[in-house]
Amino acid sequence: MTRARTILYDCDTGIDDAITLLYLASLVRVGELELAGVGTVHGNIDPLTGALNTLRVLELAGIKTGRQGELAEQGERDGQGVPVAVGAARPMAQDVHYALDWHGRDGLGDTHLPEPAGRPVAEPAAAQIVRLARARPGELTLLATGPLSNLGLALLLDPELPSLVREVVVMGGAFDHPGNITTHAEANIWHDPEAADLVFAADWPVVLVPLDATHPAAVHDDWLDRLAAHDAAAARFAARILEFYVDAYTPTLRRRGAVIHDALAAMLAVDPDLGEYTQRAVRVELRGELTRGTTVWDARSLPAEDTRRPVRVAVGSDVPAFRERLLAAVLSL
Ligand code: BDR
Ligand code: CA
Repeated sequence: MTRARTILYDCDTGIDDAITLLYLASLVRVGELELAGVGTVHGNIDPLTGALNTLRVLELAGIKTGRQGELAEQGERDGQGVPVAVGAARPMAQDVHYALDWHGRDGLGDTHLPEPAGRPVAEPAAAQIVRLARARPGELTLLATGPLSNLGLALLLDPELPSLVREVVVMGGAFDHPGNITTHAEANIWHDPEAADLVFAADWPVVLVPLDATHPAAVHDDWLDRLAAHDAAAARFAARILEFYVDAYTPTLRRRGAVIHDALAAMLAVDPDLGEYTQRAVRVELRGELTRGTTVWDARSLPAEDTRRPVRVAVGSDVPAFRERLLAAVLSL
């Protein structure tokens, strides 16, 4: 696993997705990363609202977005802007469910920001994944920080997709950590367990960043106060949306703070050396009455029986480096 150079980001923007967009934008701004496109999916909010939120954040961060009708492949490479595509509006085999208590009714902490200047492109997010992967074989890192419906659909659309993608980095799952949406399940996986299992079954390199890695990297008072002390527009926006998220997280963490899950996955895509990993085949429980949507691995010290390609699961990270780099990224905008 080496540093991602070109990311196609799939998300459900969402407060921690929005902070992640600021982080990615800061790298794009200094030429360290290319953002090939963004797709949105149901999850924290519906995917159209998620796409409009994505446009709001990219515009705030000074990133040019692609407008409808400017989808020509060459055009994107020639600086037409980052296309933002709307994706799956519901999971494959269950009802849709939004996380409004954690992210607000607008997905951005009830800040009700004005309409963005740009619009989403017409192409669905799953089709965008397939098209860009075919146009740029072996180049794209798919970073997914929402339910995996778009990635699952893309796998169904193009069975050759796994050989076209450089790497897939997913925020999701919980192994030796309680669930955050049910006793055992993490939200991104629980929102579309069938799609997640398709992603873990496919023959492509997957890095999974579960709650086991994200919770210890929570940010607290000191970090939040340093953010709030800055006056730049991006820092003020981040502090504002995080207020809602911190209020939602504080009872769980038992102190003022928040878990910015998605940003850790993005940072590990960009700098894998910040993480500690274990390699195991991963499956998703699809039938359990109490455990549907739970990620399962075989942790016994036996030779693994599972024939699936092992997933690289993050079990920890350099937490001080994560916190400092994330803060520096937001403050750089
Ligand atoms: C994940 O669920 C969503 O609420 C967050 O944006 C994050 O991607 C954490 O379980
Ligand atoms: Ca998310």
